[in-house]
Amino acid sequence: GTIGKDGYRHFMEKELHEHPLVIGQTLQRMVDPASRRVVLPDLPFDLATVPRAVITACGSAFYAGMVGRYWLESIAQLPVDIDVASEMRYRNPPLTAGSLGLLISQSGETADTLAALRSLRQKAVHILSVLNVEHSTMARESDVVLGTVAGPEISVASTKAFTAQLTVLACLSIATARARGTLDALAEEELVAALLDLPSRAADVFAQGDAIRRMAAIVAEARDVLYLGRGSMFPVAMEGALKLKEISYIHAEAYAAGEMKHGPISLIDRTVPIVASAPYTPLFDKTLSNLQEAKARGGRLLVFTDTKGAERVSAIAEDMVVLPHVHEFAAPILQTIPVQMLAYEVAVLKGTDVDQPRNLAKSVTVE
Ligand code: G6P
Repeated sequence: GTIGKDGYRHFMEKELHEHPLVIGQTLQRMVDPASRRVVLPDLPFDLATVPRAVITACGSAFYAGMVGRYWLESIAQLPVDIDVASEMRYRNPPLTAGSLGLLISQSGETADTLAALRSLRQKAVHILSVLNVEHSTMARESDVVLGTVAGPEISVASTKAFTAQLTVLACLSIATARARGTLDALAEEELVAALLDLPSRAADVFAQGDAIRRMAAIVAEARDVLYLGRGSMFPVAMEGALKLKEISYIHAEAYAAGEMKHGPISLIDRTVPIVASAPYTPLFDKTLSNLQEAKARGGRLLVFTDTKGAERVSAIAEDMVVLPHVHEFAAPILQTIPVQMLAYEVAVLKGTDVDQPRNLAKSVTVE
């Protein structure tokens, strides 16, 4: 049958509410319920010996890849290179045969990503694609497909497909780490438990609607917005800034919080709100001191944090959204949800065509 909005104002709102379901469905596909271990399909290569991974994608999928790099490097100690597909394709990077090409795409039809796939294939690289549409062109041209079980995504701006991509990449990172001997059984159990906890923690995010709408009222008045995050929260900030640009037409820029002092700090005044993703992780203190620097220059801080960070954030932030505290590994998945919700609420206030923003297409099939 046809897909409806089920009483939501926009497909984007409906799809935002599908995050818990979709994360759960994707985990069901990748985690064996009895052993609670990640199970991948049979691979025509050995994750233990791939010399490196090259990640490439476009748009939101590229930011999912940036979180994937963070996990593959830190957990699996796998060297990773990453670039947007339209650049990767022309870079001609030196690659040892047997390296892993990791492509990420909701549609499996994006022309730049497909072209990058084909150029990687010429270098005798194994092609593993993380795709939502499992009968797509990219699926046919890949050695292995890991499906994001997100269902059809109608809104041009990606939401649930993004968290599903992160979920798959998290599982792939665990499996890679196990194969490479960088993760013992106990640590693996802890990471899997953190993922399995996510669907119910994700459902908790919707209770924060009022706080998110308060933030949206401030952001909707701005001409420019600065998004900040560190570590795996930096790509979350990038995703937030992209989403805001796409659907509200407000200029936004994401910066690694520690790099702000090397430039954008000169932009800060009362008119440029700062949206920061700062859950309580090992980088929390560093992020907070970066935020203090911004506040000292008149910046208005709107902060996404968690129950463990809330007290210290409340001392400096103008407003905050408090999510449940989760394991550092799962935090980028959970923290993505309110950042996307903020962009949605701003677009609603602005009265834009949320599901069909001007000049954008759901799947860009031209290079
Ligand atoms: C378009 C959409 C983005 C999407 C990107 C990549 O530009 O507007 O939301 O992230 O394509 O699409 P893909 O289907 O490859 O994930």
